[in-house]
Amino acid sequence: MNLKNEIAIFLAGTDFNQRCLCTFRNSMSQCILNQRLQNQTWNCCLNSIRINQLVSDLLNATKVIELNIRPISINKILDDTLEMAADRLDLSQVKVEKNYATDVCHVAVDEEKIKIAFLNIIVNAIEAMEKSKGILSLRTKKSGDSCIIEIEDNGNGMDDDTLQKLFEPYFTSKPNGNGLGLTNCQNIILSHRGNITVKSTLRKGTSFIVTLKMVD
Ligand SMILES: Nc1ncnc2c1ncn2[C@@H]1O[C@H](COP(=O)(O)OP(=O)(O)OP(=O)(O)O)[C@@H](O)[C@H]1O
Ligand SMILES: [Mg+2]
Repeated sequence: MNLKNEIAIFLAGTDFNQRCLCTFRNSMSQCILNQRLQNQTWNCCLNSIRINQLVSDLLNATKVIELNIRPISINKILDDTLEMAADRLDLSQVKVEKNYATDVCHVAVDEEKIKIAFLNIIVNAIEAMEKSKGILSLRTKKSGDSCIIEIEDNGNGMDDDTLQKLFEPYFTSKPNGNGLGLTNCQNIILSHRGNITVKSTLRKGTSFIVTLKMVD
């Protein structure tokens, strides 16, 4: 069995991983007779599982999302998200500055999903900043019937080419990046009928601005 066959099985909608394990089990008995074939099958399995994972990630990052909406304070959502990123913030010795609206902004959101959207922005910010020199600023404010959330870093910033592509699936400048974090983030924000924009200056930093409708 080769990689092409494995992809064909996956696209045909079969239980791909199970087949792969079957193939592997079969190959284990064959390997006594043919070590080379076993190695090929094993590599094929690893490649196939990886492709399966990449396609699943892409589908998750772009699919229409079902939302479990309820009103919640945006400041609380940001604090919870910072908590989720606490280990990475500590490890990179990032200074966090908060400037929240004092007249609390309530937004109608799917709490878990919107936290994932902000977490993707925050993780990127941490990864863009130099260790022990990073400053992450979070701001919230009301504007008409909207709540504006700004997440700013003083990291390496982006050139025009990167800015054009950063929401595209699989666009990454990182050796181990998947390039799906911001695709997923944009999908979540747009599913909430919100808006996301970016300002960035190379070697100075980046600012993501998210707008969400407020609830009364
Ligand atoms: N705050 C930022 N500062 C500088 N570059 C950024 C920032 N946020 C995103 N980028 C650029 O946008 C690219 C895409 O980001 P995205 O989160 O989609 O993927 P990734 O971080 O590379 O991988 P992953 O799927 O693991 O999140 C990054 O590789 C990086 O080049
Ligand atoms: Mg990312």
